[in-house]
Amino acid sequence: MCGIVGYVSRTTDGTALDVVMEGLARLEYRGYDSAGVALVTPDGVATEKRAGKLENLRSALAAHPMAPAATGIGHTRWATHGGPTDGNAHPHLGGREDRLALIHNGIIENFHALKKELLADGAEFRSETDTEVAAQIVGREYDRTGDLTEAMRAAVARLEGAFTLLAVHADQPGVVVGARRNSPLVVGVGDEANYLGSDVAAFIGHTRHAVELGQDQIVTITPDGYEVVGFDGQPAQGKAYEVTWDASAAEKGGYDTFMEKEIHEQPHAVADTLLGRTKDDGELVLDELRISEERLRDIDRITVVACGTAAYAGTVAKYAIEHWTRIPVEVSLAHEFRYCDPIVDERTLVVSISQSGETMDTLMAVKHATELGALTLSICNTHGSTIPRESDAVLYTHAGPEIAVASTKAFLAQITACYVLGLYLAQLRGETYADDAKSVMTELRDMPDKVEELLGRMDRVVEMARFMADSRAILFLGRNVGFPVALEGALKLKELAYIHAEGFAAGELKHGPIALIEPGQPVFVVVPGPDTPHELHKKVVSNIQEIRARGARTIVIAHDGDEDVVPFASEVIRIPQCSPMLAPLLAVVPLQVFALHLASAKGLDVDQPRNLAKSVTVE
Ligand code: F6R
Repeated sequence: MCGIVGYVSRTTDGTALDVVMEGLARLEYRGYDSAGVALVTPDGVATEKRAGKLENLRSALAAHPMAPAATGIGHTRWATHGGPTDGNAHPHLGGREDRLALIHNGIIENFHALKKELLADGAEFRSETDTEVAAQIVGREYDRTGDLTEAMRAAVARLEGAFTLLAVHADQPGVVVGARRNSPLVVGVGDEANYLGSDVAAFIGHTRHAVELGQDQIVTITPDGYEVVGFDGQPAQGKAYEVTWDASAAEKGGYDTFMEKEIHEQPHAVADTLLGRTKDDGELVLDELRISEERLRDIDRITVVACGTAAYAGTVAKYAIEHWTRIPVEVSLAHEFRYCDPIVDERTLVVSISQSGETMDTLMAVKHATELGALTLSICNTHGSTIPRESDAVLYTHAGPEIAVASTKAFLAQITACYVLGLYLAQLRGETYADDAKSVMTELRDMPDKVEELLGRMDRVVEMARFMADSRAILFLGRNVGFPVALEGALKLKELAYIHAEGFAAGELKHGPIALIEPGQPVFVVVPGPDTPHELHKKVVSNIQEIRARGARTIVIAHDGDEDVVPFASEVIRIPQCSPMLAPLLAVVPLQVFALHLASAKGLDVDQPRNLAKSVTVE
């Protein structure tokens, strides 16, 4: 939520604006309500900011070119306090003669009290934001101390909440100072320049050397290097690492949208998440988990905490892990977990799932679990992000950068990592209650090819999406692991196409939702494979008959060779055969493709749907 870029260069050829704008373009997925930049020029701090997408800022800059500069900051906003207007866009100014500019990601919770204090002291405000309060405080502290790092340190001591702040001052032209609490900030280390970003995408076009900052740290970058101190002023160290992907991974690569590209990257996301985690015979090796085998063996309960799509991956995990290990698994929406007095103790493994690793609700749930004494494990796609750092262990998914706001490849990678975790726990406990862990692993390794094959069969789904573009409501049904797939299909459609969509457990239908069925109502049904235990296949076929009898237009997702569904299906979408537990990796793909193409047919921006942001860093 909100993208932040900072840049200082040794060269004085005035590149700051280009580099900052390039960084903002790569970070726009984090928020796109408004955008702005500030450059440090010989005449002071120059700013330009505009409501709306980055394009609006570009046009404004073309109309009013800025003087060349070697130091700059930029911001792309997802509004929290104050609507998306030019005035509320960042940067905000502060200090004597407005010589300081500041940008912010997060929420300053005590801003009302601070604003009151500043107003009483004669301050004037030009926006409704909490950020301007921070700008005024850092500005005043600079006027008092004459040092930007010191000013930032004094200011953050007064702020409550979650924030990343970046500031520049006209009197210190070669310096950008950043501070972070519960919100992301990464340093990029270059030869001739140094960078700051909400994530590495901000500077990946220039350097892959990154430094992760810890909680409550302040960083000062200059053209010569960077220095980190804690909020207490004590010298601190960031953690240096190399980014494993390059700029091309954060570009569209010939696809019309990032989402389409990311859907097509799913075979790789699954394969890369499995990579290096098994021996040839399928035995799992997870030395990367920094938890002793004894401690893992001792677990008697698992709670998954996550939000949105990640929570649906967690629901797939519940079915799979319980089936393979007989350890009870509960899935809790992270924002509910934090405030529901959860039953958690030192024998509970709390598994957080997060693509960004920055989702505030999930982070708070992890912190709460830690306070309660649980063991915490993060399944995460973003190296160096906050949630893995706050957890006892991490199992990274290797989906590569996910830029489209709607999650696709991260979802498949999360499910894959959950399978790996479940099978590893089953292997560790020396007992696989249902399936043989090694043979499931062997089958799992074939799944990337099956996803690839499936992606080659999507023509009919694309056609259907186009002719269903004016649907008013679409329902999704599934059972067992098909249930979270149905929920995910509905979520994709809601967020991309702004259509009312609901997912239901198919068995729940006759307990209420069947009243929604009227002639022509489109209903997607995720059908389990014919060899699913408990005759579930037969039961879902009956569910299809029930809605078909009431006039529904049934769009059935069924395995190759499943002929039982044919008499009751208006349309059949075929997926390759696989064992029941692994089917979500396939069944969700047509639903993603459907949502993508239906939204595109409506002329909507699929990469940046309205009101959303990629990582939700506020509670
Ligand atoms: C939906 C979507 C969201 C995220 C959720 C959690 O397409 O992307 O529902 O899954 O906001 O985000 P992460 O995984 O970053 O914690």
